[in-house]
Amino acid sequence: MLTQSQNFYTPSCEFKITDAKCSPEGLLVYFDGVGDAQFYSWFWVRDHGIDADSLDQITLQRLTDTFSIPKDIVCNSIEFDAAQQVIDMLWPDGSKSTISAYMLASVIGLCPGRHELVPGKNRILWDKDYPLDELPSVQFDTVMADDDGLREWLKNIHIYGFSLVDGVPSTEQDTAALANRIGRVQQTIFGDMWPLSSELKDHGDTAYTTDYLEPHTDATYYHDAPGLQMFNCLEFDGKGGESIQVDAFAIAARIKRENPDAYRALTEISVPGHYIEPGVHLRAERPPFVHDSQGHLIQVSFNNYDRAPLLLSDEESNRFHYAYGLFHQHAIDQDNWLKIPLTPGKTLIFDNWRNMHGRMGYVGKRKFFGCYHSRAEFESKLRELQAAAQEPR
Ligand SMILES: [Fe+2]
Repeated sequence: MLTQSQNFYTPSCEFKITDAKCSPEGLLVYFDGVGDAQFYSWFWVRDHGIDADSLDQITLQRLTDTFSIPKDIVCNSIEFDAAQQVIDMLWPDGSKSTISAYMLASVIGLCPGRHELVPGKNRILWDKDYPLDELPSVQFDTVMADDDGLREWLKNIHIYGFSLVDGVPSTEQDTAALANRIGRVQQTIFGDMWPLSSELKDHGDTAYTTDYLEPHTDATYYHDAPGLQMFNCLEFDGKGGESIQVDAFAIAARIKRENPDAYRALTEISVPGHYIEPGVHLRAERPPFVHDSQGHLIQVSFNNYDRAPLLLSDEESNRFHYAYGLFHQHAIDQDNWLKIPLTPGKTLIFDNWRNMHGRMGYVGKRKFFGCYHSRAEFESKLRELQAAAQEPR
C-alpha cells in the first residue's frame, strides 16, 4: 500500500481500473470505457513501483535496483484496490510493490502525464493559411501580481510560440524583474541580461546593427540553444525596425505535408553553427528539425548567418540544399510573417526552439534590454504552475 496519500503518481485519473489480471508475461489491466485489456510486462511493472520501497517518497528518485530484476520475472499474485485505484504485487523473492491507475493510464496516453506542459491544449500553429486573429498579450502588472498571471504568460508562449507583454516600465531593473518571474536567465557569451543597440560594439554580431535581419533562430552554435528569448524596448526614436516572428513549426508541418522527402532531409542532415570572436569559439551541430522519442518535432534550428562549413557528398548536398532552400523560401515569405512594432512599454518573448525571429531595418536610436532562458527552466516553471493550479501535491 502507499505510505503517502498524495504521491506524485496518484492524482485522480478519469480512467478508472475496473479489473486487473495476471498473465504469464505480464499484467492485464481493464480501464473503464476502454475495450481491450492493456498489457504491461512484469519486468516493467517491477521496475515502476511507486511504493516507499521502490521510490523515494520525497524526491521521487528510483530505489528499485533495475539491474537486479530478472528479465523473466513473473509476479506471484496481485491484489487490486478499487477504491484507491492501486494494484499491489507480490514477487517471488517475497518483496512487494504497488502501481497506480494514474501511472498505468498516463504512460499509454489515456490521461495527460505530469510532464505535459499544457495538458489538453495543443500548440496553435499559424501562418498565411491560418493567421492569428490577435497577438497573444498579457499586462506586466498581471504577470508580476501572482502565479495565475505568470501562468497565462507562459501558456501563451507554449501555445503560440510567443507573447507580448504590455505596460512594461522602460528600465533595466523592471525588465530583469519580469525575466526573473520565469526563473534563472541563461548565461551566454552575451552575459545574463544584455543590452542590444546598434551603438554597442561589444560583439560583432549582425544583431548589433540597424540592418534588416532575416528570420532565424539564435545560438545554433550552442549545444543548449536558449529556449526563450525576450527583449524589452527601452527607447526608440526612429523609423522601422519592426520585429519579425515566423512560426517555424507551421513551416515544418507544411513541408512534411507537401514534401516528405525534403522534411526527411531536414531531420537527417546535421548543420553546424559557429560563433567566433577573440577569445571565443563556439560550435555545435544538429539537424534543422529535431524530434523527441515519440516523433514529435521539438526544436527547429535555422541560422544561415552562423552556419559553419559543411561538406556533403554531391547527392547529399543536392538533397540538403533543396530542402534547406525550400525551408528558407517559406521563412522569407512575408505572408507567413508577423511584423510587430516594438515601442517603449512593449516586451516580446518567444520560443527560440519554435519561432524564428528577425527585424526590419531601421533608422534612428533604439535600445533594447533582454535575456535568454533555457528550455529546461521554462518547462519546469510552466509544469509547476500547471500542477499547482490543478491540485495540491
Ligand atoms: Fe537573433
